[in-house]
Amino acid sequence: MVANACSSQIKHQLPCIFMGSSAVFIVLLLLRQLIAAQGATAAVKDDIHRSDFPVDFAFGTSTSAYQVEGAYNVDGRGPSIWDSFTHLHPDGRLDGGINQKGVDFYNNLINSLLARGIQPYVTLFHWDAPQALEDKYGGFLSSKIVDDFRDYTNICFKLFGDRVKHWITLNEPMIFSVAGYALGNFAPGRCSSFISKCNGGDSATEPYIVGHHLLLSHAAAVKVYRKQYQTDQKGKIGITLVSPWLKPYYNNKIDEEAMARDLDFSFGWFMDPITQGDYPFIMRALVRERLPQFSKEEAKSLKGSFDFLGLNYYTTHYVKSVPFFSNSNVSFISDIHATDTGIRNGIPIGPASATSGFFSYPPGLKDILLYIKDKYNSPEIYITENGVSEFNNATLTLKEALNDYKRVDFHRRHLLYLQRAIKAGVKVKGYFVWSLLDNFEWSSGYTVRFGIYFVDYKDGLKRYAKSSVYWFQKFLK
Ligand SMILES: *[C@@H]1O[C@H](CO)[C@@H](O)[C@H](O)[C@H]1NC(C)=O
Ligand SMILES: *[C@@H]1O[C@H](CO)[C@@H](O)[C@H](O)[C@H]1NC(C)=O
Repeated sequence: MVANACSSQIKHQLPCIFMGSSAVFIVLLLLRQLIAAQGATAAVKDDIHRSDFPVDFAFGTSTSAYQVEGAYNVDGRGPSIWDSFTHLHPDGRLDGGINQKGVDFYNNLINSLLARGIQPYVTLFHWDAPQALEDKYGGFLSSKIVDDFRDYTNICFKLFGDRVKHWITLNEPMIFSVAGYALGNFAPGRCSSFISKCNGGDSATEPYIVGHHLLLSHAAAVKVYRKQYQTDQKGKIGITLVSPWLKPYYNNKIDEEAMARDLDFSFGWFMDPITQGDYPFIMRALVRERLPQFSKEEAKSLKGSFDFLGLNYYTTHYVKSVPFFSNSNVSFISDIHATDTGIRNGIPIGPASATSGFFSYPPGLKDILLYIKDKYNSPEIYITENGVSEFNNATLTLKEALNDYKRVDFHRRHLLYLQRAIKAGVKVKGYFVWSLLDNFEWSSGYTVRFGIYFVDYKDGLKRYAKSSVYWFQKFLK
């Protein structure tokens, strides 16, 4: 986040041996002992291996600051809209000063990772916008955010860019805009009154305004990096987008068109501007005057504003068309004229998880990668997140909770399809497991567990390797 001292998201690229490593290093020794004591336990056929991927292919895990760091009110941290973190500039702006303890924290984290042969991939904004800027001018609803974001990212490049070689400007701007400003179920919780009970908002305009300012903030950060740092620091900069892969509900033209439309509203919304300098045609045609426009200058700064694309993939859905003459209340949701679901005629597209709407569908990873390659001129791609959750189930014994054979199967199968995508010519450069640790899953809190390491919330946050850790150890050897 803006002015959160890069307190956003770090993806840890694993060296050849798999290690638990995160902001919390005290646990490392313990984890290593556990690994040594228990050995490999995953009873799944290992028919895919690290050597099936290019030598320079990066494997890693992901976390995000708000979801794992804690300590929301210590060491000079200011609150964010997720009531969390503004580590570097506690009040969200440079002229409010830089919090040295925040700088020290991230210097320590980065240095500790590097000392263990782990490359940090840093996301600058993972949804935790400073509350101070929300109060001051409405956060991402205002174009003022662009200058503050530029200043914040400039400081991060300057302070950490000697060691960080992969920067990601934004994480999932689509979710931030839609959940925060159309549905209201994520911070800052804004929406129209016909959608839900929100503290103000307009689901027909605000998601587009916020998306627009996110894009301009991204472009501003990339411009600073390229102009002032990239030549010396020799790093790369990109953006992480998310989309489910989509299939038509019925095999007819209407649903095929709905599928294309839905992909444009979820993925093309951000991908088209950074490749072509404008929103997808279908969005401009349907949203019209409610969709902000880019000036010539802005379009130029957006076009080509990434060295690599981060892609977060979790699931695949079926899409059904919604008639254009329906007189529903206007919102981002109604604009798409499509609905999507993971279940067709009562049959889920794949195994369900603890996250509603997330069904495991490994072929979808290959399909979305091929779609991106063909439609967007074959960009370099990192899978910055892929993972699956289980319920935080208090009735399970620790041993039962650590046996995540479903997660092992999930990753093994996704890696098989990922490998096929690479064989088909998609330039994928890395795969990051969401997540290193069980963590605070936004509005679901601690009810679900995404980690390959189990966190015992009732016993001092002790961490234990789940079976998937041993599987990945074997896989990576
Ligand atoms: C629009 O929202 C209002 C308020 O919730 C509701 O009463 C009305 O039925 C909605 N109209 C349509 C067409 O859905
Ligand atoms: C929790 O675990 C118990 C024992 O395996 C199982 O019966 C129950 O369905 C689980 N609950 C959830 C929500 O997964």
